Amino acid sequence: MKGIKDFYKGKRVLVTGHTGFKGAWLARILLNCGAKVSGVALKPETRPNLFGLLRLKYKLSNHFADVRNFKKLKEIILKEKPEIVFHLAAQPLVRRSYDDPLYTLETNIMGTANLLQAIKEYGRVRSAVIITTDKVYKNKRLSRAFKEEDELGGRDPYSASKVAAEIVIDSHSRSFFGVQDYGVSHKTLVASARAGNVIGGGDWSEDRLLPDIVKSIFEHDGKVIIRNPGHVRAWQHVLEPLRGYLLLARELYQGKKRFSGGWNFGPNAENFLSVEELLEKTFGILGRGSYSVKKDAGKFEEHVLRLNSDKARKLLNWRASFDIDKALRMTLDWYRGFYNGEDVIHITDQQINSFFS
Ligand SMILES: NC(=O)c1ccc[n+]([C@@H]2O[C@H](COP(=O)([O-])OP(=O)(O)OC[C@H]3O[C@@H](n4cnc5c(N)ncnc54)[C@H](O)[C@@H]3O)[C@@H](O)[C@H]2O)c1
Repeated sequence: MKGIKDFYKGKRVLVTGHTGFKGAWLARILLNCGAKVSGVALKPETRPNLFGLLRLKYKLSNHFADVRNFKKLKEIILKEKPEIVFHLAAQPLVRRSYDDPLYTLETNIMGTANLLQAIKEYGRVRSAVIITTDKVYKNKRLSRAFKEEDELGGRDPYSASKVAAEIVIDSHSRSFFGVQDYGVSHKTLVASARAGNVIGGGDWSEDRLLPDIVKSIFEHDGKVIIRNPGHVRAWQHVLEPLRGYLLLARELYQGKKRFSGGWNFGPNAENFLSVEELLEKTFGILGRGSYSVKKDAGKFEEHVLRLNSDKARKLLNWRASFDIDKALRMTLDWYRGFYNGEDVIHITDQQINSFFS
């Protein structure tokens, strides 16, 4: 933590999507480092939510605004004057993207384009990390994990929106934030970050496996309904990719041009588990729970998604440090603490400190 803390101390950092699951964790880490944090996002959607539990509204410079509104976004950037930007605001749910594809496309594509344009017009951001997803890769049923240079492609509306966001990021990087013009016509380096399915305390989103399990066990009768027991996912604790984003933004800030571009931050091979395997592990740790399968046609989701993170390992010295058991135990400890009425800020800080040390 010390290296990261020393770097972020006093830095002006904007986090979009800070009212969401990953954004709230990231904002808390940055605040703990002593950064001057601002945030742009919609009001939190779920009750409860991590943004409220961590009392972020009172600890950072908070803006409830829509990233589809360029004028507003630019106003906020001009006011907050960030040196570093993490863009996490998005409609992140595959199944919801089938119900509202236009909203998903507008938010994820135009939200990204608006942010990059605002950064360009402001001109003083040094480092921007834009979060996309492991679902940007064209799934050709490869026997190996996806590398950063693999072909992109998205079958469902969410994946399509993030692929388009990647293309916007790449074209903006080449047209306006090109490494050859760095220090001449601009001072900004931009990267995109692709991670897998993250788990961790404080997520109550709909249609996500861990929140569904947690709600059923701690709030209902312990029976979980799942749709795709055989789907394999890259499960990782939320702190793992967040550390990758923090390391990446630091390198970009320091003007290291080779760090612009796409980055994978996936878990180790043993963390690739099917939904069914993850459920069984979770029930084992909690000592209770059962599930049934409810198939629903028409909402296709990719089966197997594996990320190759060799680039991050080699160049950023980043590696996933938790195996799936550790990631799950930490997640379930967090929720157990919350449902037992313990101090959530304390639990969150303890987990951040133990992870970074
Ligand atoms: N959670 C995962 O497993 C996962 C995996 C891969 C990638 N991601 C990506 O990480 C990022 C954060 O995901 P999350 O899990 O924290 O999601 P989340 O739903 O918890 O949070 C989304 C955030 O985006 C904000 N947002 C949504 N629409 C907006 C709009 N129109 N204007 C302004 N803000 C808006 C919300 O207010 C919220 O703060 C997203 O870009 C997502 O695609 C998440």
